Amino acid sequence: MKALFALNPYIWRYKKLLILGTLFIILSNIFSVYPAQIVRMSIDMVAELIRTYRLISDFDAISGLDSLLLPALLLFGGLVILMAVIRGVFLFLTRQTLIIMSRKVEYDLHRDLYDHFQSLTLSFYRKSRTGDLMARITEDVGRVRMYLGPGIMYTLNAISTAIVVIITMIAVNPELTLYVLLPLPILSFVIYYVESLIQRKSDLIQRQLSKLTTFTQEIFSGIRVIKAYVKEEESSKVFAHEADIYKNRSVNLAKLEALFIPAVIFLAGLSTLLVVWIGGEKIIAGSLTIGNIAEFIIYIGLLTWPIIAVGWVTTLIQRAAASQVRLNELLAERPEIRFPESGPVLEQASLSFQDVSFTYADTGINAIKDISFRLEAGQKLGILGPTGSGKSTLCALIPRLFDTDFGKIHISGNELRQYSIHGLRDEIGYAPQDVFLFSDNVANNIAFGKPDASQEEIEAAAKNADIYNNIQDFKEKFKTVVGERGVTLSGGQKQRISVARAWIRKPKLLILDDVLSAVDTRTEETILNNLRTYRQKNPQSSVIMVAHRISCLQDADHIIVLEEGRLTQQGTHEELVNREGYYQRIYQKQLLEAGAENRD
Ligand SMILES: Nc1ncnc2c1ncn2[C@@H]1O[C@H](COP(=O)(O)OP(=O)(O)OP(=O)(O)O)[C@@H](O)[C@H]1O
Ligand SMILES: [Mg+2]
Repeated sequence: MKALFALNPYIWRYKKLLILGTLFIILSNIFSVYPAQIVRMSIDMVAELIRTYRLISDFDAISGLDSLLLPALLLFGGLVILMAVIRGVFLFLTRQTLIIMSRKVEYDLHRDLYDHFQSLTLSFYRKSRTGDLMARITEDVGRVRMYLGPGIMYTLNAISTAIVVIITMIAVNPELTLYVLLPLPILSFVIYYVESLIQRKSDLIQRQLSKLTTFTQEIFSGIRVIKAYVKEEESSKVFAHEADIYKNRSVNLAKLEALFIPAVIFLAGLSTLLVVWIGGEKIIAGSLTIGNIAEFIIYIGLLTWPIIAVGWVTTLIQRAAASQVRLNELLAERPEIRFPESGPVLEQASLSFQDVSFTYADTGINAIKDISFRLEAGQKLGILGPTGSGKSTLCALIPRLFDTDFGKIHISGNELRQYSIHGLRDEIGYAPQDVFLFSDNVANNIAFGKPDASQEEIEAAAKNADIYNNIQDFKEKFKTVVGERGVTLSGGQKQRISVARAWIRKPKLLILDDVLSAVDTRTEETILNNLRTYRQKNPQSSVIMVAHRISCLQDADHIIVLEEGRLTQQGTHEELVNREGYYQRIYQKQLLEAGAENRD
């Protein structure tokens, strides 16, 4: 329960709504008690009059009875309706304040949570599953909202109804009050118990439903593979099985719920029974009137719903507390990488690594071991190495997607950690190895790197990345939507859009992590040529290029070779081909392959 205290600052923000809501609830309850008293007065009045007339036993007078009663009863009836209307107005206002408060807090929570998510570092996303994170922001916030809205509202309502009604009841007859109240705690407990059962069952149903959706989603996105391997029937069988489990669980819940309502009505009926029985004896004894019995039956009606609500709200609060525990854990996560507010300006991109080591905290893989090298401003660095040798890791260290464990990285003469987040990352154009395009049009995907880019800039970037002609062939050119709802791009096309996105920033440092792996040699050559021209025009701009093909690296000013996280060779192409080692072996192998291709 303590977890929910974390919400107090949020509620405090809307304290006016909470206070007003409480006031409205109390008022609405006061107006729900008056009708009962009016009913008592009218019944007693009628009974009294009839008795008096019987005593007098005057025929003429009895015939005048209705004309005497009618206006009085109409007045009472009118009053009851008026009270109900006033009560209704206050109930309306209660919802207008308390439920609105809960929606506002929900909005604040959504935003805070989302901002928090965005501030967290990559390593956090590595250890969390996307589905879980989505559940936090939708399901858990939703449950907490149920506590803030209906939870608080019905609790306040139950408390104020109980106080107002019980005080009124005691004023009428304390003993009868006691008997009437006896079954109610049992009712409350039964409801709480059954409600927890229901919640548990609906959780299971919910889980099964999400299993069903995940399964269907995967089948739909993998439909090509399913069809190619003729697995339609099997997937239907699996689906039918899962759907059957879902049906059984739902039927199970429906049965429980079918028992639930009659049980509640029965227990509430017990109170009425007691009133009529014990109250009847009291009327005979002369200590109560018929009107009192009628009044009490109405009071029971008034108490029943809040009592039911207590059982229901208790489970609701328990669920909210469990959700809030998860949310608090999440909010306690701190970004591992922090940037200073302000820092030096990155003027050019000379780069130096000094004894840099890095280990992935979650897997314990020591991906970078003791690496040192230098790159002057305006130069091109080539990185070669077998898969898993740490090339991508090294690239990710430069924009500080991860922080080094040991050693220092300097860029433009300053330590990496001195730069502000914009000071550093705005000057770097990073095209990561795993290309990601948003479900948006091509132009926006490229302009993502520079949101204020003009159409000319977008086209220039597309030309640099040699994707311009492809885009012109698309039906809607730069407005063509890519991704799930749009055209499916080839691997090489995606890579080049990603390159254009990094390049459009005209960054001081352009990092291309193996992004030419899926393009043919001619396209590769065009892009490399464009890169050379770009560097001639922007002599301060450096480029880091990771590649598996020597042809991409040949013109680099400096090449480093990584093997199992260690820097094993460095130098220029000329130096490295003439030195025994990984570079030479790869060079000779690719030379042979190229020769074989030429002979074909
Ligand atoms: N996010 C990560 N979390 C944990 N371990 C990682 C992560 N990324 C990479 N690794 C591990 O670090 C090592 C180096 O990986 P890296 O991606 O840097 O290699 P690479 O040289 O880029 O390989 P490739 O040529 O296949 O792209 C690998 O053993 C890999 O399993
Ligand atoms: Mg890589």
